[in-house]
Amino acid sequence: MRAMVFHGPGQKSWDTVPDPVISAPTDAIIRVEAVTICGTDLHILKGDVPEFTPGRILGHEAVGTIVEVGSGVHTRTVGERVLISCISACGACRFCREGHYGQCLGGGGWILGHLIDGTQAELVRVPFADTSTYPIPDGVPAEQMLMLADILPTSFEVGVRNGAVQPGDTVAIIGAGPIGLAAILTAKLYSPGHIVAIDLADSRLDAAAKLGADVTVNSGRDNPADAIRELTGGLGADVTIEAVGVPETFEAAVELVRPGGHVANIGVHGAPATLHLEQIWIRDLTITTGLVDTNSTPRLIDLVANGRLDAAALITHRFTMSEFATAYDTFANAGEAGALKVVITAEQG
Ligand SMILES: NC(=O)c1ccc[n+]([C@@H]2O[C@H](COP(=O)([O-])OP(=O)(O)OC[C@H]3O[C@@H](n4cnc5c(N)ncnc54)[C@H](O)[C@@H]3O)[C@@H](O)[C@H]2O)c1
Ligand SMILES: [Zn+2]
Ligand SMILES: [Zn+2]
Repeated sequence: MRAMVFHGPGQKSWDTVPDPVISAPTDAIIRVEAVTICGTDLHILKGDVPEFTPGRILGHEAVGTIVEVGSGVHTRTVGERVLISCISACGACRFCREGHYGQCLGGGGWILGHLIDGTQAELVRVPFADTSTYPIPDGVPAEQMLMLADILPTSFEVGVRNGAVQPGDTVAIIGAGPIGLAAILTAKLYSPGHIVAIDLADSRLDAAAKLGADVTVNSGRDNPADAIRELTGGLGADVTIEAVGVPETFEAAVELVRPGGHVANIGVHGAPATLHLEQIWIRDLTITTGLVDTNSTPRLIDLVANGRLDAAALITHRFTMSEFATAYDTFANAGEAGALKVVITAEQG
């Protein structure tokens, strides 16, 4: 089969590699129908994820058809079309029993395209297939499901749910990349009063406005505190969601929230940020962090199937697998290309 293989920092290629085989009874082999690229794949390519070793296949988001199951797979069948989640779940450990699949102690968690070969391939081995895949409901396009592999549950669980968004809230979302935009889509499910999108790139703010932000602020030009004060009678946002991953945006999320409000951090941070406890100890804040668990995936599938959530609105570019290198270039130069999510589908036949 062909697969997108990592060969060390800055190096990847669409190689011919051996087909995956069942190595545990709970495994399934899945023929990939469509796959996408995550910002985390770009971090891996830069060499930021040292446990991702050369020779490994990239990718942790896909939809496909099951072609083989191990003897321990009981609820998935050959020929079934499924969503492959970015988080695998053993289903039996303490954290899985609590729905905290991201923290799985039984060999799951974020393993695909991280600790084992990933989904950017014609075939992929998926461990714990019963508890790590979701059947695609009839009539739901593969592209809609693909967006539920990672970014929609991440933004919903770590941003909107951790931030406890309530009807009428003023929600400020810092960063309007795919994650911040998915936070806009899922915050809207709660009928907030105002969604304020904050970014440095006007193209991203245009996308935010199209997807439902009521107010957009280019923080390179304007101070978002002014817009938020105006909307909230000077109080501050009820909820701030950090979707960038640099110290200044986390610090801004804490500054922009009202007393008693919620700060939900989604960004992956590589450097320490300053928490001004000397200023905020008195403000009754709740600050949360998190890795996605994907325990919201069944609910998000229902919302997509019922037409309540248009996850595919985040897709800007489409390629076939033979164009994988171009897909990566487009996604990596998102600013110039106006790219949000790119979808790569298997060649026909
Ligand atoms: N917690 C989790 O489980 C989880 C899962 C997936 C992704 N993430 C993280 O979420 C973050 C966002 O992901 P993404 O794919 O949307 O990234 P992205 O790089 O596509 O988007 C980030 C956006 O932030 C904007 N930005 C950069 N610096 C800024 C600043 N100083 N002020 C305002 N805006 C600024 C950029 O213009 C861009 O639009 C990343 O840190 C990513 O690693 C976390
Ligand atoms: Zn991802
Ligand atoms: Zn587990």
